[in-house]
Formats: sequence, C-alpha cells, structure tokens
Amino acid sequence: MRRLFLFLLLAGCPKQDSPKEQPAPAPSASAVATVAWDPAVRNEAIKTGAVVLAKHQCTRCHTIDAQPAAARPLHCTSCHQFLKGLEPGKDQWNGLAKKYGKDVIERYQRNIVHLMRVPDLTGLGKRVRADWIAAYLAQPHDLRPLLEDSMLRHALDPKEIRDVARYFAAVAEAPDPWAAGYVAPAAPPKPDDARLARGRTLFVAKGCGGCHVFGNVNTGVDAKTLEAGRAAALLAPNLRFARERTRPEVLVDWIMDPKKVMPQTTMPPMGVTREEAELLRDYLFHEDPALAAAPAVKEPAAPAPLDRAVAYEEVKERVLGKVCVHCHMNDYEKDPGPGNLGGLGYNGVQLRMRTYETLVSGAADAKGERYSVLLPGKGETVAPIVRALLRRRAEAARDSIAAFQDHALPPYPSTPPGMPMGLPAMTDEEIQLLVTWIAQGCVGPTKITGMSGANDGYLVPDGPIAKNKGCELRMPDSKRPAWAVASEKTEKLETKPK
Ligand code: HEC
Ligand code: HEC
Ligand code: HEC
Ligand code: HEC
Repeated sequence: MRRLFLFLLLAGCPKQDSPKEQPAPAPSASAVATVAWDPAVRNEAIKTGAVVLAKHQCTRCHTIDAQPAAARPLHCTSCHQFLKGLEPGKDQWNGLAKKYGKDVIERYQRNIVHLMRVPDLTGLGKRVRADWIAAYLAQPHDLRPLLEDSMLRHALDPKEIRDVARYFAAVAEAPDPWAAGYVAPAAPPKPDDARLARGRTLFVAKGCGGCHVFGNVNTGVDAKTLEAGRAAALLAPNLRFARERTRPEVLVDWIMDPKKVMPQTTMPPMGVTREEAELLRDYLFHEDPALAAAPAVKEPAAPAPLDRAVAYEEVKERVLGKVCVHCHMNDYEKDPGPGNLGGLGYNGVQLRMRTYETLVSGAADAKGERYSVLLPGKGETVAPIVRALLRRRAEAARDSIAAFQDHALPPYPSTPPGMPMGLPAMTDEEIQLLVTWIAQGCVGPTKITGMSGANDGYLVPDGPIAKNKGCELRMPDSKRPAWAVASEKTEKLETKPK
C-alpha cells in the first residue's frame, strides 16, 4: 500500500486516551443535579446517539465520553498535537528528520496551528442543555473568541441532531427535551439593580475576565491581556451564551467547583462561596452583554488579479498545499480527505489538490459528473474554488468573532459550507494569489517537486503534464508522465516488503 509516509509518522503517535470498548454507563457519582431516566430508555438513547457520532466522525476532533477515538491516521487533533509536540534534537524528531528531511519536519511544525485543542465533550450534558446542543448543531457559531477553529457545518439531518443531543442528555442524566412533559429550566429571577451591580463587581474582582469574555461587557481585562493568557483562556466560552446554553440548576455548583461537574475541565475553582456563586449566576443571566447589531453579511466580490506573474508553486505553497490539501488528499492515502472521498459525514466531492495533475481533474457534482473548479460554471462569473473561499469569508461573521467585538448573530447561511471548512477564512492576499494564477491561465509546474520514491503524504511528486496550462477540466492521461512512472517504480520497490 502506498501510504508509507504518514503511516510511519503515526506509528510513533501517542495512544489515544479513550478506551476502545464502551462500558455500560454508570450513574453519575457527582452531587450535580440529575433526573431519573428509565435505564432501558437511557441505554437506547446512548446507543442511538453513538451511531450518529460515529457516522459523522465527531471523535476525529473531540473526546466524547468513552466513545472510541478516531483511528490514528484520521485523528485531526491528535496527529497535529503529536507532530507539533516533537522536540527538535530529541530521538523521535531526529529519526523523522533523517528519513524525510529536516526541512519537511520543520515545515510541518511551522504550518500546523489549528486543531490542536478543541472542547472535550465528555459529560457535556451535565452543564449544557440538550435543547441548546440541538440548536447549536443545526446552526453552529463561534463560542470561544480565542479559538480560531470553529465547529464544522456538519450535514446532520433533524433526526440525527435530536439523537446526538439526547445522547448528551442521557449520558449526563439530564432532562430530556424530547420526553413527554418536558419543561425547559427557568432562568433565575431578575435581580434588582443593586444585586446586579454586586454581581458585576464580584465578576471583575474574582478575575473571571482573565479567561472569559462576556459579550462586550467591560470585564476589567482588555483584549491584549486576554490574548497574553491564551493558553488558559483558549477554551473558555463567551459567557454571553451561558444563559441560553447552561443549566441554571447546575451553574452554582459549576462556579464553585467546576471539577465536580466536569472532572477534566481546565477552569480552576475560583474560591467563591455558594452565596457568591448565586450572585454570579444571576449576573450571568441578566447582565446586558452590550452586543452590537448583527452585521450585514454579503459574500465579498472576488479581488482583482495582481499585476505580477503568480506561478503554481506559489499558490501551492501558500494556499492549496498549505491548508486545503489536508481535506482534499489523494485517493490512495489512508485518509483521502473528507472533501475528496468523504468523511465527517460528507460524501466528498472527489476534489484532490495534492498535485496540479489532480487539481485540474476537478470535482464531481451531485450527479457524479466532473467539473473544473478553476472555471466559472454556467451563469457564474467566479470559479467554484474562489467562490468557496469567498463563502467562508461571509461565514466568518458567525464563525469567528473577536474578543470584545461581539454582535448579534446574522442569519445562518443557506449555502454549502465555505472553505477551508471550519477554519479561518483565507486572507485577501491569499485569495488574490489564487485569482491571479487562474486569470493567468492556470499554468502548471515545469519541474518535478516532492521526493520521488516516497509517493505519499506531503512528499508526493508534482510535475509537468502533457497539457500544462489551461483551467479547463483534464483527467490524468492513461499514459503516465515519465516522472510519475519513475516515482511509482521506486515507490513499489520501497513498500514491497509489507
Ligand atoms: C474538525 C474538528 C471537529 C469535528 C470533526 C467536530 N467538531 Fe465539534 N467543535 C469543534 C470546535 C473547534 C469547537 C469549538 C467551537 C467554538 O468554541 O467556537 C466545537 C464545538 C462543539 C460543541 C460545543 C461544545 C462546547 O463545550 O461548547 C459541540 C456540542 C460539538 N462541537 C459537537 C460536535 C459533534 C456532535 C460532532 C460530530 C457531528 C463534532 N462536534 C465534530 C471541532 C470539531
Ligand atoms: C497523520 C497526521 C495528520 C492528520 C490525521 C491530520 N493532519 Fe492536518 N496537518 C498535518 C501536517 C503534517 C500538516 C502540515 C502540512 C504542511 O505543512 O505541508 C497539517 C496541516 C493542516 C492544516 C493547515 C495548517 C493549520 O494548522 O491550519 C489544516 C487546516 C489541517 N491540517 C486540517 C486537518 C483536519 C481538518 C484534519 C482531520 C480531518 C487533519 N488535519 C488531520 C498532519 C495531520
Ligand atoms: C483559568 C481560566 C478560567 C477562569 C479564570 C474562569 N474560567 Fe470559567 N471556564 C473556563 C473554561 C476553560 C471553561 C470551559 C469548560 C471546559 O470545557 O472545560 C469555563 C466555563 C465556564 C462556564 C460555563 C459556560 C458555558 O457556556 O458553558 C461558566 C458559567 C464559567 N466558566 C464561569 C466562570 C466564572 C463566573 C468565573 C470567575 C469566578 C470563571 N468562570 C473563571 C476557564 C476559566
Ligand atoms: C476540514 C476539511 C476541509 C478543508 C480544510 C477544506 N475542504 Fe473543501 N471540502 C470539504 C468537504 C467535506 C467538501 C464537500 C462539501 C459538500 O459536500 O457540500 C468540500 C468541497 C470543496 C469544494 C467543492 C464545492 C464547491 O464549492 O464547488 C471546493 C471547491 C473546495 N472544497 C475547496 C477547498 C479549498 C480551496 C480549501 C482550502 C482553502 C478547502 N476546500 C479546504 C472539506 C474541506
């Protein structure tokens, strides 16, 4: 099999901490408010939800109770952590550098920024309401101002959404919004102005703002100080959502001793009495988060091409090969990529960006017909690949909200997901590089790059093909170019012993 490279890298990956088997859920031991679930109903809800979590591969990023972690070569966060965490000079780093080149390992470590840490969803339903989880999965949005990655626009249908939300309620023995007679938890009564003011003072005095923003409320901390404490504050939610997403009956316990509710949380106990915690809860529910109005969201126009030549190599290095290829890999990889052959619940569009040859072979539409992503479709003025980037820019108004620049959420987009999916939008400059290269006729590489013989991972060779320019659809020739044949030969030799 031709998956030598990343496979080897992963052989050294630390073991996932989630156990493989899922033990029968034990009733929760903490003193946190629980409701009685019929054991058979609870088991069924957990089982049904787990099927959806597996189908959509949620554990490629999240730890979720005892749900099995995604296999190593698929696990976005654990692979990124592993590679980023290799220490230069140590044996493992040296070994890999010797084999694949120091520059390659250095590039990985430099380029990997995202999907290093995401919220741990174990026992999430203890604190977070199941009806909120359902609403969020249908229309996810930014919750954490310092975390650049966002929850993906998973293509979950309404039943799947309900199954997942009920799963979290069942595991936590929390109220089931779909049970007969369910009553949504009531907000604590509105405090008078004096009590609200005491809450405000306490919130600042206790240093909650060192990790949390609360809409645009002045927390006694500015954006720069918050950023300086990034490591601790990264996963701290914007508290303006607490009133809609948390269970008020649990919040006091949480504020007093978060580990009692969620043992793995990184929020420290804040040294508050019960009375103070009640004050803070009431404050969180009733302070005005001082939001700006929802911005008008419009997909930006494509930027005008640059005034200089832009070569394929530059577009590959700075745009497609750096970010996109991760989900748009080659067919023979251990993970061909969610945007290629499918994953994360998507069927994929068979779009591969590893090399020029695969990029110009386009993507498949709903009917399975291939189209060029580099040429505008019928009635369009912008190439699909550029449109996808512009859509992501429009999505940023919901998916990426900077600290203290909070606003009401604009309507959820009805368009397919923008690219890069779930990640920060490409900048004007990056989009402009792609636009320029396309406007100049999608000229391909003239040299062979990549390490021949290791026909996998990041080292797959790129090279000139028979028709080496033009943005129209071209499938790879059945007669392979000489550089590809040569590298396949070496590759076969290398992997034969397996
Ligand atoms: C590619 C990585 C990735 C995958 C796959 C993924 N998520 Fe997420 N998810 C995130 C990130 C990042 C956040 C945090 C977003 C934020 O805070 O703004 C998040 C947040 C969440 C939250 C809110 C949790 C909290 O504590 O606030 C829930 C619930 C959630 N995801 C459920 C799911 C489910 C269910 C699936 C599978 C259908 C899934 N996620 C798949 C990356 C991912
Ligand atoms: C087998 C290890 C591995 C797995 C699994 C993996 N990545 Fe990566 N990822 C890498 C490496 C290596 C790079 C750097 C590539 C380069 O610089 O050429 C990278 C870079 C990226 C980048 C661009 C850099 C950044 O931080 O923004 C994105 C985006 C990305 N990966 C997303 C994902 C997603 C989404 C998943 C899961 C669906 C995933 N990766 C799974 C190894 C992995
Ligand atoms: C050192 C950083 C840190 C400090 C300081 C901190 N928190 Fe947190 N807090 C977190 C993190 C991280 C989470 C998310 C829980 C998790 O996923 O582990 C959280 C979660 C919460 C939640 C749940 C919000 C939600 O939407 O799910 C509330 C409420 C909360 N904190 C209140 C407070 C209050 C009140 C204070 C001050 C008394 C405080 N926090 C101080 C890090 C912090
Ligand atoms: C986290 C994974 C992921 C990343 C990163 C990603 N894609 Fe995608 N891409 C997908 C998935 C999944 C689909 C299929 C979506 C669907 O079925 O609606 C897709 C579809 C597409 C399509 C076809 C749909 C269309 O709009 O015509 C294009 C073009 C595209 N991606 C371009 C990109 C570009 C350019 C980048 C980098 C800037 C990128 N993708 C990064 C997962 C990803």
